[in-house]
Amino acid sequence: MEKLTVRASGSYDVVIGDGLLPDAVSYLSPIIRNGAVTIVSDDKVYPLYGDALKRRLAANGNKAYSFVFPNGERSKNADVYIRLLNFLAESAMSRADTVVALGGGVVGDMAGFAAATYMRGIKVVQMPTSLLAAVDSSVGGKTGIDLKAGKNLAGVFYQPSLVLCDYRTFDTLDPAEFTGGMAEVIKHGILAGGELRELLYGPIKPNLEKIIRLNVQIKRDVVEADEREAGARKLLNLGHTIGHAVETLSSYALSHGQSVAIGTCLTARICAKQGVCSQAVADEVIKLFTLHGLPTETMYSAKEIADTARLDKKRKTELITWVWIEDLGRCVLKDIPMDDYEHLISLGLQQDNKGKAS
Ligand SMILES: NC(=O)c1ccc[n+]([C@@H]2O[C@H](COP(=O)([O-])OP(=O)(O)OC[C@H]3O[C@@H](n4cnc5c(N)ncnc54)[C@H](O)[C@@H]3O)[C@@H](O)[C@H]2O)c1
Repeated sequence: MEKLTVRASGSYDVVIGDGLLPDAVSYLSPIIRNGAVTIVSDDKVYPLYGDALKRRLAANGNKAYSFVFPNGERSKNADVYIRLLNFLAESAMSRADTVVALGGGVVGDMAGFAAATYMRGIKVVQMPTSLLAAVDSSVGGKTGIDLKAGKNLAGVFYQPSLVLCDYRTFDTLDPAEFTGGMAEVIKHGILAGGELRELLYGPIKPNLEKIIRLNVQIKRDVVEADEREAGARKLLNLGHTIGHAVETLSSYALSHGQSVAIGTCLTARICAKQGVCSQAVADEVIKLFTLHGLPTETMYSAKEIADTARLDKKRKTELITWVWIEDLGRCVLKDIPMDDYEHLISLGLQQDNKGKAS
């Protein structure tokens, strides 16, 4: 078992272990005390782990409720959010009570946003059940929902009271979802280098506890330095500008993880061509994603990607902060004028697909 403490606007523990769920109530007790608990989950995760948790909470003397919605990104919307708020109100949840987010990043973002806004904020415990949620979304306090105009457009920063990660739950995770989560693990390995990077060359599952802990440590350090993403936290967006663009272009046929992999590999090639890093560093980045079964290139054209990325960011500014790779373990922020996008992206595309659409 591993335990870390995050000291942001709220201070909380992240507990990581194999088979923690049956003992979850003992970890939850100091937070929930004798209050009521609403478990928020999706219809894939709840039948696997939610019912048992609810029974254990009830046996502990807590009033336990459950709110379950259809799994998948499409549920991360305003309609489900309002239904959840109404559910909390109808269950007479008070300021002393707790929301438990049991699931992947979609559940965590939705439950976190509802907890942050219901009665101006009640406690939330994150219980991540996907690799992505364990290494990324459950830590750091970003919560929110998607709007018709785009992903994560409504949300707040709101830190949980506890993160409880039982990675044995990954046993039931679809292998493609596990691979998608690996994209964020590799991203952290590129940002931080060191031991995490080394571990990426070996088998993942036997080293899962250490790998999750190292990821949480990296995220914790960045969040503690810049909770509200004024600067350093932007480093965590490595590969995401291009990634979001190809994800949108594919109408979400490419998963978030696959898109981040493509975005990071294009970034690495751009950096090598610009002399920001060596070709050897770019090759290493690409090798890491290949090793874990993630895509490293796209057939979309530089124009398509640039136009989509510009649309995504239009509401902000003419300059977009990109994360440049100087070396494994050394990335920097760089403001790029939108006008330079297409040219730069073309540097990141393989020779044979320049200008071609897929
Ligand atoms: N808040 C943040 O800082 C942050 C960071 C990164 C991503 N995100 C968000 O996270 C979301 C993606 O998260 P995700 O990849 O976990 O997606 P997800 O929550 O949709 O989970 C993926 C799929 O796996 C299923 N699943 C989850 N755990 C399972 C388990 N143990 N066994 C069987 N099935 C399981 C889910 O039901 C779903 O079908 C996106 O909405 C993204 O915007 C948020």
